[in-house]
Amino acid sequence: MQRLYRKRIVLGVGGGIAAYKSAELVRRLLEQGAEVRVVMTRGGSEFITPLTLQALSGHPVHLDLLDPAAEAAMGHIELARWADLVLIAPATADLIARIAQGLANDLLTTLVLATDATVALAPAMNQAMWRDPATQANLDTVQARGLKLFGPASGSQACGDIGLGRMLEPTDLAHLAADCFQRQALTGKHVLITAGPTQENIDPVRYITNHSSGKMGFALAEAAIEAGARVTLVTGPVHLPTPDRASRIDVVSARDMLAACEAAMPCDILIASAAVADYRPEVIAAQKLKKDPATADGMLLRMVRNPDILATLSGRQDRPFSVGFAAETENLLDYAARKLRDKNLDLIVANDVANPSIGFNSEENACSVIDRQLNETLLPQTSKGKIARQLIALIATRIHQVQ
Ligand code: C5P
Repeated sequence: MQRLYRKRIVLGVGGGIAAYKSAELVRRLLEQGAEVRVVMTRGGSEFITPLTLQALSGHPVHLDLLDPAAEAAMGHIELARWADLVLIAPATADLIARIAQGLANDLLTTLVLATDATVALAPAMNQAMWRDPATQANLDTVQARGLKLFGPASGSQACGDIGLGRMLEPTDLAHLAADCFQRQALTGKHVLITAGPTQENIDPVRYITNHSSGKMGFALAEAAIEAGARVTLVTGPVHLPTPDRASRIDVVSARDMLAACEAAMPCDILIASAAVADYRPEVIAAQKLKKDPATADGMLLRMVRNPDILATLSGRQDRPFSVGFAAETENLLDYAARKLRDKNLDLIVANDVANPSIGFNSEENACSVIDRQLNETLLPQTSKGKIARQLIALIATRIHQVQ
C-alpha cells in the first residue's frame, strides 16, 4: 500500500552533512506515492547538488526567494498552499532557530510562515548543539506552535561524537510523514477523565479514602491522547506520572473533583474512572480530634452524601457522551445495568473488584462494557494499558454512531 498516495510534500533541505540522506528520502517518499518538490537553503546546496534532487524528484529545485524563473513556475506562496506537508530534513540548529524566531530571510523559512500545512522537522546536528539550552528552547517554541519533530536519533555522528542529534533514516522519516495523514479516531475531541481516589478529611491529620491507584484512569488518558484527543485528567491523590500532553488537575475531595470537572466542561466524552467517596464527614474538625473521656467508649462520625460527579455532568444540557465504571464485588452485571440507567450513561464498564488479580491497585484488568441496549462486550484480562486502548476504540466507534 502506498501510504502517501497523491500527498504533496515540500521537502526542505537545510545545510548539514545529513543532507546527503535527502536524496534517499526523496526516493522513499516517491515510493509511497507522494508528489515531492524540493526547497533547499543555500547551506543545503553546499552539501548536495540541486541537480541530484531535481533528477530524483523530477522537478526543478527551489533555492531562492527572489528567483524570477522559479517564481514564474510556482511562486513561494503557491508552493506554501500546494503543500499537504512541509518536511524539513535535515533541520539544522540554525534553521530551527530561525523558524522559532519567525524569520523569513530565505525561501524555506518564508514558506514555513506562509503555509497552513503541517510542518515537520527532522533535526540533524552535533550532540552538543542539540543539548544546548538555546536549541532546546527553540524546539519547545516550535512544538508549542504545533510543528512536529521527527527524531533525532542517537548514535555516532559525522564529527566523531556519539550522542543525540543524528537525523532519522529516510525510511523512518517516510513512515512518520505518512503517520501525519492518518486521521485518528478521536481527533478534535475533548475527553474529560476522572481518576484515582478522593480523600475526605476528618480533621487536619486524618481522612477517609479507598484503594484506587488511578492506574486505569491514567492509562485511559494515555490511550485517548494516542487516539488524537485533547485530554483533561482530573485526579485525586495518586503516585503516577502525568501522561505526555494531558492537562492534569490535582484535587483532593469529591467536591473539589466536581468543581474541577465543571470548570473543564464542555467536553465531548466524559470517562469517570475515579473511585469517588460516596460520603464525607459532615464537619471537618478544625483541630486534631483528641481521645478525651467523652469518647472513651468510641465515637460517632456523622457522614453526609457527596455529590455524584458523573450523574451531575451527564445530567447537564451540554451532556457529553458519558462512560461510567461499576466496581462491584457481587451481582456485577445487574448493578452495572442499574447504574447505567440511574446515571443516564451511554456505556458502563463493569469490573469485579473482588478478584484480586484485577481491579483496584493491580496491573491488570478485565471488564464487561454494557450499552443502553444492554449489549455486553467482554474485554478479557490483560494489562490496564491494553484494556484502556480497547475501551477508547470502543468509545470512538460508539461516539461516531451517536453523532
Ligand atoms: O455509584 P458508584 O460509585 O458505584 O458509581 C460508579 C461510577 O460513578 C464511577 O464511574 C464513578 O467514577 C462515578 N461516581 C462519581 N461520583 C460519585 C460516585 C461515583 O462520578 N460521587
